[in-house]
Amino acid sequence: MKVLAIGDVCGSIGCRKVMETLPRLKKEKSIDLVIVNGENSADGNGITPESAESLLAAGADVITGGNHSLRRKSAYPLLESNPFLLRPHNLPAEAGQGYTVVDLGYMLVAVINLCGVYGMEKCGASSPFAAADELIARAGGDGARVIIVDFHAEATSEKKALGFYLDGRVSAFFGTHTHVQTADAAILSGGTGYLTDLGMTGPTDSVLGVKKEIIISRLKDGGTDKFMLADGPCEMDACVFTIDRATGKTVMIERMIV
Ligand SMILES: [Fe+2]
Ligand SMILES: [Fe+2]
Repeated sequence: MKVLAIGDVCGSIGCRKVMETLPRLKKEKSIDLVIVNGENSADGNGITPESAESLLAAGADVITGGNHSLRRKSAYPLLESNPFLLRPHNLPAEAGQGYTVVDLGYMLVAVINLCGVYGMEKCGASSPFAAADELIARAGGDGARVIIVDFHAEATSEKKALGFYLDGRVSAFFGTHTHVQTADAAILSGGTGYLTDLGMTGPTDSVLGVKKEIIISRLKDGGTDKFMLADGPCEMDACVFTIDRATGKTVMIERMIV
């Protein structure tokens, strides 16, 4: 089976890119399950019911989140009612959860969403290692043979460490949040497909999706201009994990910038 994971969608521009690109890619690659990180899919950050619905309509099966997921209260009812809209499980329990099981008809797939601690101190996340242990046990109890993890974290070290910690216990593990795709796609020795960061879905000529002039001014001169999404051509950064149904291990991994 093939799982397509798509990096942080930036605002309505990013949602449009997903709508334009995903249906074709899904067909072309014979994708069975699509996971999209939507924590930034609303204009001005966070996620709204509208941005979540547009990603689901475009073909996302599960939307994962991150440090911005709980920013907008308007998303709370949908986080509570739609089991396929996740937010990191180890964040304070405002609304929703970071665990779901998708029934593909021929098998159950568990999706786990966790947040890092390093550089994200303001979020109040508990240990992602402990949360992963708890949720993997739950997935086993639920009969899910395939387990996918989206780890939304800043530090490459924390991502590598958790990836290695979960090697052999989950089918695929990818990072999100940094909006820059890493070049380290690999199948770890225990059979876990691994990528430190998927990257983003947003305007290429930008700093992580934001107008470059704003970020340059902030970093160089202490500017205080509000973040504004850049425009121009967009990219969709993603990764396809081909997973053996019988063993639940990744047999092929292909990262892409579409
Ligand atoms: Fe993000
Ligand atoms: Fe983030």
